[in-house]
Amino acid sequence: MNLQEKLWHMSNRDGLENRETERGNMLQTAIEAARRAGRNIAERYPGERKLTVKGYRDLVTDADIAAEEVIIDLIRARFPDHAILSEEAGGNEISSGYTWVVDPLDGTTNYTHHHPVFAVSIGVLQDGNPLMGVIHDPMRNHTFVSHRGGGARLNDVPIHVSRVANLGKAMLGLDWGHANGERETILAYLQQLTFRCGTLRVLGSAALALAYVAAGWLDTYFSVGLKPWDTAAGILMVTEAGGRCSTLKGKAYRVNLPGCLATNSIIHDEMLAVFQGTGVIADKEPK
Ligand code: IPD
Ligand code: CA
Ligand code: CA
Repeated sequence: MNLQEKLWHMSNRDGLENRETERGNMLQTAIEAARRAGRNIAERYPGERKLTVKGYRDLVTDADIAAEEVIIDLIRARFPDHAILSEEAGGNEISSGYTWVVDPLDGTTNYTHHHPVFAVSIGVLQDGNPLMGVIHDPMRNHTFVSHRGGGARLNDVPIHVSRVANLGKAMLGLDWGHANGERETILAYLQQLTFRCGTLRVLGSAALALAYVAAGWLDTYFSVGLKPWDTAAGILMVTEAGGRCSTLKGKAYRVNLPGCLATNSIIHDEMLAVFQGTGVIADKEPK
């Protein structure tokens, strides 16, 4: 190797090390932000909610806003040149480079009912593709963490999707969504799924449901009305834990698509066949 090549390799290696260090810092920041926001949400949990209706069956509370502030302040302080897309504050569209996609409180309706199932979700996309994700449940102190190529962990212990081999034995998770049209689609699917699956659960937090698929606590989950902040962290969690995510038509899932099917991989095609068999396909899917 001549000197020029040696220098090129050295600078390339330094570049790689710097990138690894930056990503390590980003993951630590995502964990710290999710836990800080989670503490804030949990402290407010026993008290009265300040509610604002922002859409049909769509609520926001003072806890959503306070948690979001905690998260955004920390990201901005450490990574001022990264884009942030956050549910309540809005922010940049998903851009090239790094985009932090934040749901400060996923499961707001549960939270308003004092139903203790909700989470903070923080995903980072690189050029629109999931790079890392953190989902933190402050009521159970569960911190789910994943990064591309690095697997998925719950409180530092590796997790894996279930090995349930068919729908008949599966615990299936779903969400109702907000709009009546979405619920009609779900009812059409349930007409088939109810009688074919082992049992059904509706958690009311898409992010947690995806984390539960990753942990093997649900064998599959689907929804027809998702937003980027619901799934940015969760879909990586599922794939890094050995599962599969797609649209309800079986196409590659991207975080700006509303319909998502996540499974342990094994029962994915069986689920897709049921959706297809109903003749009802959720809107706005890629052709
Ligand atoms: C909602 C939850 C819910 C899903 C809705 C989402 P939010 O998020 O994830 O499970 O059914 O579609 O909007 O509003 O509680 O952050
Ligand atoms: Ca959400
Ligand atoms: Ca939310």
